[in-house]
Amino acid sequence: MKVSKLLVGLFAGVMSLAAYAQEPIVIKFSHVVSVDTPKGKAAEYFAKKASELTAGKVKVEVYANSTLYKDKEEMEALQLGAVQMLAPSLAKFGPLGVKGFEVFDLPYIFDGYADLHKITTGPVGKSLLAKLEPKGIQGLAFWDNGFKSFSANTPLKTPADYKGLKMRIQSSKVLEQQIRSIGGLPQMMAFSEVYQALQTGVVDGTENPISNLYTQKMHEVQKHLTLTEHGYLGYAVIVNKKFWNGLPADIRKQLDDAMVQATTYANEIAKAENDSALEKVKQSGKTTIHTPTKEERLALKKALVPVHSKMEDRIGKDVIQSVYQETGFDPSKL
Ligand code: LMR
Repeated sequence: MKVSKLLVGLFAGVMSLAAYAQEPIVIKFSHVVSVDTPKGKAAEYFAKKASELTAGKVKVEVYANSTLYKDKEEMEALQLGAVQMLAPSLAKFGPLGVKGFEVFDLPYIFDGYADLHKITTGPVGKSLLAKLEPKGIQGLAFWDNGFKSFSANTPLKTPADYKGLKMRIQSSKVLEQQIRSIGGLPQMMAFSEVYQALQTGVVDGTENPISNLYTQKMHEVQKHLTLTEHGYLGYAVIVNKKFWNGLPADIRKQLDDAMVQATTYANEIAKAENDSALEKVKQSGKTTIHTPTKEERLALKKALVPVHSKMEDRIGKDVIQSVYQETGFDPSKL
């Protein structure tokens, strides 16, 4: 009797150990945008690929729309290990104290995705990601979103139209300077609070790629949208370094492969997602869309490009110069 009880107990113990051994490794992936955006879709895609390539040994739980953390809290949660993976916008690395990333926020520094990819897939991008390691963060990839356009409740055609407008920006010294250069009043706030701030008039306008504007319904509370495409917004996919390096090598390799696939996917869909969001904003008829004339575009560019030299000390002249070299941009030739 006693022996059989012992055997039953032993059997139960072995079974629960086996169950424990089969528990998947959970990766919490937090982000602030809608599921229906380039980042939202790419995060889901990565979760699917991670499960496939590790044969279910890894479960990526994606928390979209700031459901887990808001902008500022995310980074701290990653460093503490409360969340394992994030894809913050590149503007978020300035406040973290990592020099150089803010080069991506400079207005008009990239003339389209091709220019941008020279940086994100080249040596400059690689060296920027390496700068995260002392912060306990490992950079895995750059994911695209797109080019930001300005919106407000009043028409935005000339630089003078921004004078005195309260414009919501991400927390960024570069973006702050950008708004000041056209006479606006920069207002920093978390992404999750923007819709309400626009709706209640706490701020007058904002900037974002159209995929973010549309999925947050910002166009419903902005009377005017001007397709300025004056600056880039994209992401670095990052992980808690200790967690990542502690994974079994074969699993980490499978996750690296899943990330390569998700990055290809993210960067393939980004432009189309923004184009289709613009179509939907047009169809909604809720905001007046203005495409700047060549002259209007040049006037805004001339007003904003001096931000580059003003931010030289903060970003690093060497980083700005290496971007100019890769893309051929010359601020003196406007
Ligand atoms: C914003 O706050 O405007 C962006 O960082 C949101 C995002 O992550 O795309």
